[in-house]
Amino acid sequence: MLIRVRRSWEIPESTATPERRFFDRRSVIKGAAAAGAALALPSAALAADDPLAALFPARHNDVFKLDRAVTPESVNSDYNNFYEFGSSKQIGAAAKSLKTRPWSVKIDGLVAAPRDIAIDDLIKAMPIEERLYRHRCVETWAMAIPWTGFPLSELVKLADPKPEAKYLRLETFQDAKTAPGQKQFWYPWPYVEGVRIDEAMNELAFMAIGAYGKSLANCFGAPIRLAMPWKYGFKSIKSIVRISFVSEQPVSFWQKLQGGEYGFWANVNPDVPHPRWSQATEELIGAGKRVPTQLYNGYAEQVAGLYKGMEGRKIFF
Ligand code: MTE
Repeated sequence: MLIRVRRSWEIPESTATPERRFFDRRSVIKGAAAAGAALALPSAALAADDPLAALFPARHNDVFKLDRAVTPESVNSDYNNFYEFGSSKQIGAAAKSLKTRPWSVKIDGLVAAPRDIAIDDLIKAMPIEERLYRHRCVETWAMAIPWTGFPLSELVKLADPKPEAKYLRLETFQDAKTAPGQKQFWYPWPYVEGVRIDEAMNELAFMAIGAYGKSLANCFGAPIRLAMPWKYGFKSIKSIVRISFVSEQPVSFWQKLQGGEYGFWANVNPDVPHPRWSQATEELIGAGKRVPTQLYNGYAEQVAGLYKGMEGRKIFF
């Protein structure tokens, strides 16, 4: 007989009241949208400029539960890291200048057939769903976000990598006219991140194309970004234009800038401090409290196996 064992992040529904509140809001929105067809409510107008409006609300995958409230959208969209638009957390207005259509993603390197895919064609080819994920920045703040997107593993399958491919190297757009932060020559633009192929194949590795029940706002990394919730947030690269399959470990943006402080693996661990601060606790943005940091940000059961034989501080740095 197949017995489904509850995993560590699947806390009982009864303890996730704030999350349920979020879904109450979803059903209200859904209801309003249906009513809107007859009553011409503003919900229809709200969706009008969303190129992916037809995808929402996406099927909710309830395997991925939270132990905390979803961060309100208004709080999240006023507190971002997106250095292309400056080093302030309030880059929402500046990021609006990013044009996200047309947009294509280049898939190249050690793959059967390198290609450029228009973002909407890519999305059409992928199984789209919504997941609730924790998000932990190396700066010791945290949020919880309802992402919409698809498993990164599906993109890897589509790319059909050759056996020599060991890593994915992901790259953000470069256009200093749109993104004034890229005029700051001391940063090694474009933003680059890397993940090992087995990390990319893990079921938690997710490509987000939406958040809060609609297309990604630019401040979240539209039109497509990574979400790897067991790693510090800097691994979750935004506004991706290129994914290359490579044999050597890529050197990421922060590693290039300050290799003594930001490593390749960047797995969350309360017991391994950043050289300049402790990682023992995290501030829940919008909730006004600090809570203990969890190993692998609470996803150890799912991902610890990826690092078997690599134990040591390196994988948390
Ligand atoms: N991706 C790009 N292209 N540029 C960035 O500055 N910042 C990273 C990551 N991805 C960043 C990026 C960091 S440090 C974090 S914590 C998260 O994005 C922040 O995501 P959020 O703004 O959606 O919270």
